[in-house]
Amino acid sequence: MILVTGATGLVGGNLIWHLLQKNERVTAICRSTSKLDSLRTIFRFYTPYPDEYIARIDWKIGDVLDAGSLHETMINVNTVYHCAAVVSLGNNADILLDTNVAGTRNMVEAALEAGVQKFCFVSSIAACGRAVGTEKIDEKSVWEDNQNRSLYARSKYYSEQEVWKGIEKGLNAVIVNPGVILGVSGTNSGSSQLFYQIKKGLKFYTNGGSGYVDVKDVAKVMIQLVNSEITGERFILVAENCSNKDVLSWMADGYGKQRPFINIGKRTLWLVGIISEILGKVFHFKPLIDRGTALSATNREYYSSRKIQDAIGFGFTPVSRCIDQVCKFMSQNGK
Ligand SMILES: NC(=O)c1ccc[n+]([C@@H]2O[C@H](COP(=O)([O-])OP(=O)(O)OC[C@H]3O[C@@H](n4cnc5c(N)ncnc54)[C@H](OP(=O)(O)O)[C@@H]3O)[C@@H](O)[C@H]2O)c1
Repeated sequence: MILVTGATGLVGGNLIWHLLQKNERVTAICRSTSKLDSLRTIFRFYTPYPDEYIARIDWKIGDVLDAGSLHETMINVNTVYHCAAVVSLGNNADILLDTNVAGTRNMVEAALEAGVQKFCFVSSIAACGRAVGTEKIDEKSVWEDNQNRSLYARSKYYSEQEVWKGIEKGLNAVIVNPGVILGVSGTNSGSSQLFYQIKKGLKFYTNGGSGYVDVKDVAKVMIQLVNSEITGERFILVAENCSNKDVLSWMADGYGKQRPFINIGKRTLWLVGIISEILGKVFHFKPLIDRGTALSATNREYYSSRKIQDAIGFGFTPVSRCIDQVCKFMSQNGK
C-alpha cells in the first residue's frame, strides 16, 4: 500500500491523481482541519467527477508533528511519498521549521520502524547550493547557510538532511528538488499566490528568475523514481529557467490581463526587506518580506535537470503551456 502526506496540497493532490490512474491503493494522511475541497479542486482539473476518485482514497487522520499518529498510519505500507510541509516565504517561523524539519524526522523514523520499502521526499531547489561562476546549479552544488537564505530554504535544507540520515540508517529513499511548481491547487501557498495576484491585476515584476516545473511532471517523475531501482539520490526537477517577468507575463496572457510593466529594483526590495525585519522586531510580528525573500525575488538563478534526464530520460512540459492550462481551468471554474 502507498501512503501520501500533504494530500490536500498542490503536489500531494496531483500525485494522488496520477497514482489512482495507475490503479494504486492509496492511503492519505490528513488532519482533522484539512479541507478536502482543495483536493476536489485539483481533481476537477482532470475529471468532471472528482468525488468518485476521492472515494477511492483510504483516509487516515494524522499529523506529521504527532509521531504517535504516524506509526499507526504506516501499518501495511510499503511506499511513502512525503509531500506535507509548510510552504511559505515569510511568516510562521516556528510552525515552518517544526513541520518541515521535525515533521520529516518523524516520517523518516516511522518509515524505518515500519520497514517501508521506498520513501520519496519532496525537497526543493531552495535546498540546493549556489552555482560556481557561470555554471548552472546542480545536485552537487554546495549549500551555504547564511543570512541571505530564507527561513523556508533553511527548513527544506534541514528537512532533506533528515532524509539523508534515514538513508544512512538503511532507508531506501529518493529525493526530488523541484523548482517553482506550477499547477492547479486548492491551497493559497507557493505559486498559486502568483496566479491569484496576476488575476487581480499585478503591475509589478522583479528582475529575478528561477527554475519552474509543471506539477504533473513532478508527480510523474516521483512515481517513476519510486518504481525504479534508484535509491540514495536527489534530483533537481526543472523544466526551464525562466525570468520572473516572462512567467508573470504568460500568466497575464492566460487571464487576458495586462502584463506587469513596473520593475521593482533589487535595492528597493532589499530596503523593504530590511525595514520589514526591523519593524517586525520592534513590534513583535513576523514580516511578510525579509532580506531572504527580497533576494530570492530579485536573484536570477539557473538550474540543471541533466541528472534526471540522464537517469530516466524525462521530457518536461514547456512552462508557458502549463501556465496556459492552469489559467484556462481557473478562468472556467471562476477561481
Ligand atoms: N509549491 C511549490 O512551488 C514547491 C516548490 C518546490 C518544492 N515544494 C515542496 O513540495 C511539497 C509540497 O508542497 P505544496 O506546494 O504541495 O504545499 P501546499 O499546497 O501548501 O500543501 C501542503 C500540504 O501539507 C499538509 N500539511 C501541512 N502541515 C501538516 C502537518 N503538520 N501534518 C500533516 N500534513 C500537513 C497540508 O495539509 P492541510 O490540508 O491539513 O493543511 C497540505 O496538504 C513541500 O515539501 C514543498 O516544500 C513546493
